[in-house]
Amino acid sequence: MSETLANLLQETREFPPPAELAAAANVTADAYAEAADDRLGFWAEQARRLDWAKPWDQVLDWSNPPFAKWFVGGELNVAYNCLDRHVAAGRGDKVAIHWEGEPGDTRTLTYSDLHKLTCQAANALTGLGVTAGDRVAIYLPMIPEAAAAMLACARIGATHSVVFGGFSADALSNRIQDASAKVVITADGGYRRGKPSALKPTVDEAVAVSPSIEHVLVVRRTGQEVAWTDKDHWWHETVETASTEHTAAAFDAEHPLFILYTSGTTARPKGILHTTGGYLTQASYTHHAVFDLKPESDVYWCTADIGWVTGHSYIVYGPLSNGATQVMYEGTPDTPHRGRFWEIVDKYKVSILYTAPTLIRTMMKWGDDIPQGYDLSSLRVLGSVGEPINPEAWMWYREHVGRNNAPIVDTWWQTETGAIMISPLPGVTATKPGSAMSPLPGISADVVDDQGESVPNGGGGYLVLREPWPSMLRTIWGDDERFIDTYWSRFAGMYFAGDGAKKDADGHVWLLGRVDDVMLVSGHNISTTEVESALVSHPSVAEAAVVGATDPTTGQAIVAFTIPRGNVDTSGAAGEQLITELRNHVARTLGPIAKPRQIMLVPELPKTRSGKIMRRLLRDVAENRSLGDVTTLQDSSVMELISSGLQSGK
Ligand code: WT7
Repeated sequence: MSETLANLLQETREFPPPAELAAAANVTADAYAEAADDRLGFWAEQARRLDWAKPWDQVLDWSNPPFAKWFVGGELNVAYNCLDRHVAAGRGDKVAIHWEGEPGDTRTLTYSDLHKLTCQAANALTGLGVTAGDRVAIYLPMIPEAAAAMLACARIGATHSVVFGGFSADALSNRIQDASAKVVITADGGYRRGKPSALKPTVDEAVAVSPSIEHVLVVRRTGQEVAWTDKDHWWHETVETASTEHTAAAFDAEHPLFILYTSGTTARPKGILHTTGGYLTQASYTHHAVFDLKPESDVYWCTADIGWVTGHSYIVYGPLSNGATQVMYEGTPDTPHRGRFWEIVDKYKVSILYTAPTLIRTMMKWGDDIPQGYDLSSLRVLGSVGEPINPEAWMWYREHVGRNNAPIVDTWWQTETGAIMISPLPGVTATKPGSAMSPLPGISADVVDDQGESVPNGGGGYLVLREPWPSMLRTIWGDDERFIDTYWSRFAGMYFAGDGAKKDADGHVWLLGRVDDVMLVSGHNISTTEVESALVSHPSVAEAAVVGATDPTTGQAIVAFTIPRGNVDTSGAAGEQLITELRNHVARTLGPIAKPRQIMLVPELPKTRSGKIMRRLLRDVAENRSLGDVTTLQDSSVMELISSGLQSGK
């Protein structure tokens, strides 16, 4: 961390917003002053960007912290705000989604089309017995039905729990069971890396151990063979035959909208609960403010998957509530060739692109000539999210994608925050490569020391949020205690984000990565404990310690130190085979994104006298650094043992 700090201190470049963009920006510097003057009044004004069936009586009820209630007494329907009101205003023929399938097939859905499909899905779910308050799991590829499924749940007041399509059957069934979901919406498969990738068998396996599931709704995407049970219904036979008429009822502002699971510092993922009015207010406002979206002329593209919060807030709820025209892409960035992203930007004249540092670094690696082969002149705002973006990647993004003109908005937020919290405003902020800059209007973020005291400019510490915000998580599903312990106990009266940060001489915020046991692999949150538990569940493993090691492309990579059981042969080829098997075992247990880059078989693990594994030392080994201070080690010969074990090729 100190190395990062030193590097960042030397970064002095600054890029003011292009004059033309600044002159016509949706949000100006006044917003900061307005919000500072009257924070709740500011958020009330943003909430009025939505259509409410019943106005609220109180903007914020914070009488029982940390349990917030926003827009108390207000009622609205999220799907109505994302669809019906645009159709009613005569914008039904406007394109909502330009969908691009990985094999090159395309679909265009107008706001009317998406409205009709959502109404049909709402009617079909109702027909399957889903009512307001029930939970529905969604396990789909990146196809328009994914957005329609989420909106259909919102429309009838069912709480969706989207599970990323790369997760394993275990991960899916754990999430289904934690929320007692009644229905799963899935597909036969989706296209990834040039071939159909099955989803239905994973669902079958998960449903077999999840008694709460009554029905499975299956979209036909790839046409691959699927096993069939009494619970299964084809989407095209159930949804596409349902009525396109559906009147959306209004729900309370605090009605649960969705649960989304994220990794914590224990093996059990946390079901982050978001509700209706405050969530939509901030998702919608930040999308309008941070991307400067002009719905009449912009073509917006967020490259995330809807299985992550970025997809929830900045593919579905933010853009659709603002009436945006957007691109949705099913597949991987190098299928069928490494220029696919830029080809899509060129083809649809994308003007706002929102992607992740890991992708930018991958594109850098592939070479400058690839983006040069396409016309990217339509791009006017570029966004980054998921992990700290290093200044080199930021500069590459600016030069090779943004043609030294489009402002870059580096947006810091989390599954828990629901929407962007710290980011430049493209028409206001002079940006610095690698900094998320300032809290948005209405947000009070700060950097504090160990004692919770605000650090002066130039200082580093922990990122906290001092005041509640509209799209904040309301709790961890079914576990209020864990909600309090995880986020509100470290510093009295403040939300602890789990990130290290520093303030530069001007008070701008630089994020430095996680300070807890959560790894950020390609911007995805994976807990060290989760991977350790998966390893220990293998019969050949006695103990395991997992660390996130710096990786030039994925940000962090998973490196596991594993002690095999006594009777296990780890010599030569048998050891290699065990390593391969363990890597696959983790991928099967948790999903391919959690597959360790490297597994080292070791005889011992370094522990403190109190028995805590010293991950710092293991990180040094994983990153090929000389070992730091080992004086607190219980047994100082352990590190020698580990190093010698590694040298002997184990
Ligand atoms: C963690 C949250 C927000 C959607 C994607 C990830 C890291 C996120 C940034 C950024 C530095 C960032 C933080 C945060 N993070 N954006 N712009 N700069 N770090 O959501 O899976 O809930 O992960 O991602 O460490 O705590 P998530």
